[in-house]
Amino acid sequence: MRNKGTVLFNRQTGEGVFYMRLAVKKKFKALPAQFINIKVSDTVVPLLRRPFSIFSAENKELDIVYKVIGEGTRLLSEKKKGDVLDFIGPQGNTYPVDLKNKKAQIIIIGGGTGAASVHFLAQELKKKKRKFTLIQGARNKHLIVAEKEFKKFGCLFATEDGSLGTRGYVTDVLKKVLEPNAVIYACGPEAMIKAIKEKVKGMDDVKFYASFEAYMGCGIGACISCVIPVGVPDNFVYKRVCKEGTVFDVSEVVI
Ligand SMILES: Cc1cc2nc3c(=O)[nH]c(=O)nc-3n(C[C@H](O)[C@H](O)[C@H](O)COP(=O)(O)OP(=O)(O)OC[C@H]3O[C@@H](n4cnc5c(N)ncnc54)[C@H](O)[C@@H]3O)c2cc1C
Ligand code: FES
Repeated sequence: MRNKGTVLFNRQTGEGVFYMRLAVKKKFKALPAQFINIKVSDTVVPLLRRPFSIFSAENKELDIVYKVIGEGTRLLSEKKKGDVLDFIGPQGNTYPVDLKNKKAQIIIIGGGTGAASVHFLAQELKKKKRKFTLIQGARNKHLIVAEKEFKKFGCLFATEDGSLGTRGYVTDVLKKVLEPNAVIYACGPEAMIKAIKEKVKGMDDVKFYASFEAYMGCGIGACISCVIPVGVPDNFVYKRVCKEGTVFDVSEVVI
């Protein structure tokens, strides 16, 4: 669905990391792991919209957090209060959470800017009074996303240089908290998803779902630039992250 949002604020919160709030006209209904595809410029350059996970959607406000990595995100970082952004969304599926299964331990893991997507999940589970363990990892404290907001959920942090929380990777924290029958939901770099998959290998009772941030073109299922292989190494089909995802059962993804 095509939409417009007015920038309420666009603050730098870390090393190239920004937190933006948009006001939308109607109450914005979205689910964790869904994303919006933003037109970052009024000209044709850059031509393609840029996808961002929804960090939070409350009433008529919508938050994203993002890291400046190229021209599109640089242009986004220059947006000021009152600027109007054209976006498409919410797009994509959501994390499959079985709220009736109260025995399963829920572990939520965000790496880098993938933390945005899992923040929304934590927010929704908290509203439903469902317990969970939240983990966020980054290279260092300055790259941690929305530290204050994550601390509200008792987040366990992991940084490679030890500047916040455990020194090491999210998998080092996971190792300490993981229980049999856990369900893990994650979003982050593919290397992180692969490392978690390795960690839970052979633990048949553990389920692992991840939201993939594949490099996108159209964001609406038409260009097939965002596909990932689903199946087994010698027998798989390509699925579109923007349409069939972004969330997949990681045991079915060839990574
Ligand atoms: C579903 C989804 C949700 C996302 N959510 C967030 C979010 O919440 N916050 C956030 O900061 N970022 C998020 N991203 C990534 C974000 O869309 C890209 O960082 C952004 O589009 C880069 O645009 P750019 O013009 O600044 O950089 P570009 O000039 O387009 O790219 C700069 C460099 O980064 C590489 N690159 C760009 N996008 C990706 C990607 N998705 N995966 C791997 N390499 C890439 C390019 O190949 C290039 O080398 C998400 C991506 C997807 C697909
Ligand atoms: S981005 Fe075009 S099909 Fe997914």
